[in-house]
Parts: sequence; structure tokens; C-alpha cells
Amino acid sequence: MFRDLHRRIIRKWKTYAPERWWGDYTDIRFYLAERLTGLKGEKILDAGCNMGIMASEAAAAGNTVVGLELNPLPLNSYRAMFRDLGLPALAVNGSWRDLMFREGSFDILVLGWVLYCDRSAEEKSRSLSKLLKLLRPGGRVYFVEANRLCPIQGRGADCFWTIEEARLFFEAHGLEIREMLGWNPLPSLLFWLPLSLKMRIPQIILLCLYPPARLVQYLPGWYALFRFLGRFRRLWRFCRTYYICAEKLQAPNA
Ligand SMILES: C[S@@+](CC[C@H](N)C(=O)[O-])C[C@H]1O[C@@H](n2cnc3c(N)ncnc32)[C@H](O)[C@@H]1O
Repeated sequence: MFRDLHRRIIRKWKTYAPERWWGDYTDIRFYLAERLTGLKGEKILDAGCNMGIMASEAAAAGNTVVGLELNPLPLNSYRAMFRDLGLPALAVNGSWRDLMFREGSFDILVLGWVLYCDRSAEEKSRSLSKLLKLLRPGGRVYFVEANRLCPIQGRGADCFWTIEEARLFFEAHGLEIREMLGWNPLPSLLFWLPLSLKMRIPQIILLCLYPPARLVQYLPGWYALFRFLGRFRRLWRFCRTYYICAEKLQAPNA
């Protein structure tokens, strides 16, 4: 059912920014795209949109999407891709640290693998507080990022969270969790080693010892399997990445 969506995303990536194609055919952003393409008529801010793959999918589904990006270069690909697709390219070059939109002017905020760019908890907290002002009460945040406990992706880095830490962070900022999902808990061939030891093994070696995404993508039903397994909290600590959808609570007197 989602095969066309996945193929389209990979094709866009390879056509418009091949140097940015991350090469992971089982990336969690396919799930984010599934969720975004299920929206219609929403005003969406994609913060840290890069060249706009997620933004273009959301726009094509019938939403008004504004891409915000610090780096001006990927915005050239963003505009070219939107033009080719016949979509309005609403792209802004700037930082989420500077408020440049009216408060409460968006229904949806997309944070697709971006908040790790703020390295400390204080920075993240400041940024999220600012971004949340742009969201109307009842608006939602769609968030994906690497799991700190994954020796390949999070690798113990302070700028990443575990799934539970992310949940606490969002709740502390007045958001109510609507959906949480771990992604890709498939074990590496070194699953029997202690985590602290695996964290010290170079990433490139670990990548060779994980079931490679290039092969997994040919397994019929891998996507449905990840969606199913991702709901089991017990597996979350083994997941490479995760997805959270959270809602900004209504103002008390609303
Ligand atoms: C790993 S990319 C993710 C891109 C895209 N969301 C995706 O899922 O493919 C992180 C992006 O965030 C952008 N970024 C980092 N700090 C930013 C900031 N303060 N304001 C806006 N964009 C920022 C970077 O330039 C980069 O393009």
C-alpha cells in the first residue's frame, strides 16, 4: 500500500539531492511521510526542511506547507522540486531560533530529524518553546529522531534522547502524546555484546553487521512488520529511531 510512496520519496531524493540520499531504505521518515500524507487542509511548518522531501509529500496531499531552513543551499533544490511538481514553494531561509511567523499560525509542526542540531537540553528547550508558540492550541508536533541507545544511530550522543526521554521532554512542554512508535528493532549480529562495548565499535563495522536495509527492503511486509513491532514498549530500547506525535493542549479557557 505504501510502496508507491516509498518509491516516490527515494526517486525524489536521488533526482534532486543525490548527495543527501541517506541510503537507508528502511528509514523512519517513510513512516513520517505516511502520517503527513494522511493530513489535508492543514497549515504545516516543516522546521529544518532541508530540500523538502517531507514538505513536498505533505503539500501534494493538500496542505499548505512552509519550509524553514537555516542553510540556503538545499532551498534551491526545494524550489526546483516544488516547481517540477507544480506545488507552491513556500520556503523561508532562517533559523527556528528567530520567531518570524505570527503566533498560533500553524496547525502542524514537523521536526523531522532536526532537533539534535541543538546540542544541549537547554537549547532544545528554548527552541521548542519558541516553535510551540507558532502552533495553535490543539495543533500537533510530528517528531522523528535517532534513539540515543542505538549503537549505530544515536551512539550515546547527548544531543539524542531515548524514546522515554523524548516523551518526558514533550510532556514537560505542555504537549500530550498522541502516538509513539519505535522503528527498526532488528538486532545486529553482535546483539550478545554489552551495549557499552558496542558503542565503542566503529559505526561502519556495525553497519555491516546489521541486517542491511538494502536487503530488508526486499522482504515482503518489512514495513508492516516495523509498524507492528514499533508499538511494543519493551522493544523501544533496541530501536534505531522513533516517532512521536504530540498535541499542544488547548488553552485552559478555550
Ligand atoms: C538532518 S537534516 C533533516 C532534514 C529534513 N527534515 C529531513 O527529514 O530530511 C537537519 C536540517 O536542519 C537544519 N537546521 C539546523 N539548525 C536549524 C535551525 N536553527 N533553523 C532551521 N533549520 C536548521 C539543517 O540545516 C538541516 O538541513
